[in-house]
Amino acid sequence: MESLTLFNKPNRWKKRGSTKYPLYPLLIFITSLILIFFFFITHFPFSNSTLPFSRNSQSTHCSKKIPGQKFMMYAPHSGFSNQLSEFKNAVLMAFILNRTLVVPPVLDHHAVALGSCPKFRVLSGNELRLSVWNHVFELIRGFRYVSMSDIIDLSKVMSDSSVRVIDFREFVSIWCGMNMDFACSRYPEVLSSFFESSTQCGSELSGNNGNVPDCIYAVKDDCRTTVWTYQNDGEDGRLDLFQPDEQLKKRKNISFIRRRKDVYKTLGPDSKAGSATVLAFGSLFTAPYKGSESYIDIHEAPRDNRVKSLIEKIEFLPFNPEITSAGKEFSLQTIKAPFLCAQLRLLDGQFKNHWKSTFTGLKEKLESLKQKGPLPVHIFVMTDLPVGNWTGSYLGDLARDSRNFKLLTLNEENELVRKTATRLVTTRQRAKFQSSSKYLDELKPCDSQTLPDLRLYIEESVCGCASLGFVGTSGSTIAESIELIRKHRVCL
Ligand SMILES: *[C@@H]1O[C@H](CO)[C@@H](O)[C@H](O)[C@H]1NC(C)=O
Ligand SMILES: *[C@@H]1O[C@H](CO)[C@@H](O)[C@H](O)[C@H]1NC(C)=O
Ligand SMILES: *[C@@H]1O[C@H](CO)[C@@H](O)[C@H](O)[C@H]1NC(C)=O
Repeated sequence: MESLTLFNKPNRWKKRGSTKYPLYPLLIFITSLILIFFFFITHFPFSNSTLPFSRNSQSTHCSKKIPGQKFMMYAPHSGFSNQLSEFKNAVLMAFILNRTLVVPPVLDHHAVALGSCPKFRVLSGNELRLSVWNHVFELIRGFRYVSMSDIIDLSKVMSDSSVRVIDFREFVSIWCGMNMDFACSRYPEVLSSFFESSTQCGSELSGNNGNVPDCIYAVKDDCRTTVWTYQNDGEDGRLDLFQPDEQLKKRKNISFIRRRKDVYKTLGPDSKAGSATVLAFGSLFTAPYKGSESYIDIHEAPRDNRVKSLIEKIEFLPFNPEITSAGKEFSLQTIKAPFLCAQLRLLDGQFKNHWKSTFTGLKEKLESLKQKGPLPVHIFVMTDLPVGNWTGSYLGDLARDSRNFKLLTLNEENELVRKTATRLVTTRQRAKFQSSSKYLDELKPCDSQTLPDLRLYIEESVCGCASLGFVGTSGSTIAESIELIRKHRVCL
């Protein structure tokens, strides 16, 4: 923001005052007027011509190509584990399609929801892209933007130089021609014109104006119509195993047919989508369902060793070193003994009604540990049930039985959680300023950040260190992600 520094450095004007001159007071007056005038035009840009960022029409967005680069965006949603699995799919898709992946931020838990693939009731690609776009700008505004790459360590993936990524904010500032720092301006006029531009650009990238040849291709295929495959000979265009049944078709009046499509043939360089500079997917979530996959069925690449090795690499993307070492630190310095990790999802949606089965596995495991000793058995508990509500549940019983069990938890106010967040934010800022050879005191408005909530990630890392074992909630994606950390022996 050049305009702000102009006001802070009026030295040129002050010098004149040092000569003894009868018109001195008048000069000061005129100087002040000029400064006030400058202040107003740089801080309150009312007319289009003084807007601090360009207002491009659609066609100029398209001409702003970065030479030789093509991009891929997608619309993450739901909770963090879900967003992480979409991110892995995105890395894979971008690699197959030879595009630079636009790395999104971590979205608030369930701020954006997709709907249900098995019920054929999901947001359309356009709707999903737009609500993600709006949420991301809320995060920027609220100083809460944390990139996926701040949390996840991409070095292993990036070491294969063919995976190319760009930060969402950087992409938007180039493509939409918007100075992202104005998102955090203190001036309502700057803000409102900024958000007007963002809405316009977001709407285009979401596909609301239709596809623009050689420019934007917004993918319409979703889990109601398509299962993406890769190099599965003879499958391209075939019907998928899973189709809406007659009952559903009648009851919901739907006419979807699910086909398996080769993603490279459909969207790759030689396709109609291939010439577009930006390819925008909707959701990239997939899950096994009734003998098939809900949206993406790419588990191998028979004729492409580079894709094959990438599939192996992305199976597990570790947390960043700050988070991983915070987990270790908590194990060594707070728990200070071999321990079991119990991950208990008790409140959210489907998990509310399964307390009994969730506790059964834990009970069995604890009985056997109790027999073996030594006592008390240390248990690290990660659960969405607040400690104040444990009374009356099995957790309450365990907490009372302090002779046999010692329970430990990590809460948001924990010093380690805050310290790690601070470290992460300052490390990122330092890296950013080093790369652009600027100084920290030139911090831009949007860079002042509220500390991200890292509790979930640190808890998962702690569970990765639990040498007495792990008991998770079946069906929970958090449990799956902890199993992966343990399988790859990040801490053990
Ligand atoms: C992939 O994209 C890069 C950069 O856009 C280009 O230089 C390269 O030739 C492409 N590779 C293939 C195999 O198309
Ligand atoms: C079912 O949907 C079709 C269009 O998809 C529409 O023309 C028809 O009126 C609908 N039928 C009912 C009973 O809603
Ligand atoms: C937890 O306890 C608080 C206060 O005692 C209560 O208002 C709340 O409903 C409880 N929540 C659950 C999920 O039991």
